[in-house]
Amino acid sequence: MDPVPSARGQWGSRLGFVLAAAGSAVGLGNIWRFPYITGENGGGAFVLIYVACTALLGLAVMWTELAIGRATQRSPVSAFKALAPGSAWKLVGYLGIVTGAGILSYYGVVAGWTVGYLVHGITGELASGDPGELFGGFVGNWQLQVTFLAVFMGITMAVVIGGVRAGIERITRILMPALLLMLVGLIANGLMQPGAAAGLAFFLRPDFSQVTGMTFVHALGQAFFSLSLGMGAMLTYGSYLPRKESVATCGAWVVVCDMAIALMAGLMIFPMLGGKPETGGPGLVFVVLTQQFQAMPGGQIVAVLFFALLAVAALTSTVSLLEVVTSSLVDEWRLRRGAAAAGAALVITILGVPSALSLGSVGWLSEIGTIGGEPAGFLDLMNFVFGNLALAVGALLLCLFVALRWTAAAAVAEISDGAPWFRRLERPFKVAILALCPLAVIALLLYLVLTGRSLG
Ligand code: TRP
Repeated sequence: MDPVPSARGQWGSRLGFVLAAAGSAVGLGNIWRFPYITGENGGGAFVLIYVACTALLGLAVMWTELAIGRATQRSPVSAFKALAPGSAWKLVGYLGIVTGAGILSYYGVVAGWTVGYLVHGITGELASGDPGELFGGFVGNWQLQVTFLAVFMGITMAVVIGGVRAGIERITRILMPALLLMLVGLIANGLMQPGAAAGLAFFLRPDFSQVTGMTFVHALGQAFFSLSLGMGAMLTYGSYLPRKESVATCGAWVVVCDMAIALMAGLMIFPMLGGKPETGGPGLVFVVLTQQFQAMPGGQIVAVLFFALLAVAALTSTVSLLEVVTSSLVDEWRLRRGAAAAGAALVITILGVPSALSLGSVGWLSEIGTIGGEPAGFLDLMNFVFGNLALAVGALLLCLFVALRWTAAAAVAEISDGAPWFRRLERPFKVAILALCPLAVIALLLYLVLTGRSLG
């Protein structure tokens, strides 16, 4: 192997790493997507299946990604080159970069909404008017959409330019505890709302009559997306782990944090909604909750807190997506970090513009295709291609890389280094990464390709 580039950053401490990686994992996926997917898939039973997918499958892939990163101390493309020189496996790394850029381009648009709603919350514009019309008017206004996308990408870029320790680790150390505090406050407020009991019952009481094969597919997709798996984000964060840190322990913490925050987000949102959400889909948080904020005492403050929470969660995730692209440009093409981050952010923002315009402001972009027989806009297509398909392909290839090239024994050696307790999990881990994960992901891919339907 070439010597590791000496200018590479490293996390300052275990806590710093766990907060940064949990920051990547905890995002719109937990607070915006998880509740509406849960709402669409029947509530409590879906939650249980999601938890099982996270613990049995997500954790194994998390460990594997972190292990490849720490073993090589490189970003995805260079990492695969180092472990499998002269082979085509490096294409998995390239796929990760493209997927990361693709996801960030539309994720940045939705992240922009959180800032838009935060601003509207502060100015009081959310306090009156029909929430559905407010939302439609907001996303259908191209100037606002492009502006907030650019603002969010600019902030993301500034953090990434700061570097691993002075940028990413420093802000996540502040933002993650702030996120937890806001979340706890919002849960307490939610539990005092009139519909709290009905909401909790929907979220926590499993009704297995609602479970179909599709429930499993959605739970798996949600688990992987929420853990930031399948495109080398965790691989990249793992590459900044010092050799003395244990992959097994750190990875387990990240998974626990992500799952805990998703469950807490459910505890916050369903009591506020007061039961099974009437409308599902992306509008759930922006439309239905806004309606609740209008009705509750102190609703304006609650709304501001809520959208600040969403914005914080989104920022630590967009940072990780941009970091994958940036670190690859640095490791592979020897660019300076500042130039790499700025260039990547600019290109991805431009790539995000069609998504930003596809929410009503430009007719043909808003109905450019169909997904599962329904008209779909550019943003929906991007989500389907990158957020659903490409991530699943990436996760499958990662499992195959372990099976066919790196070997499960090498993975186990790397993961258990510094964590002897992991040896006891050696067999279940091997079963998960060699059999369960690839089979489950193949089932998910078949669902996507055969039905042509999006996971949302
Ligand atoms: N996990 C984040 C969320 O839940 C999104 C995210 C960040 C992501 N980086 C990723 C998803 C890498 C897949 C891959 O919102």
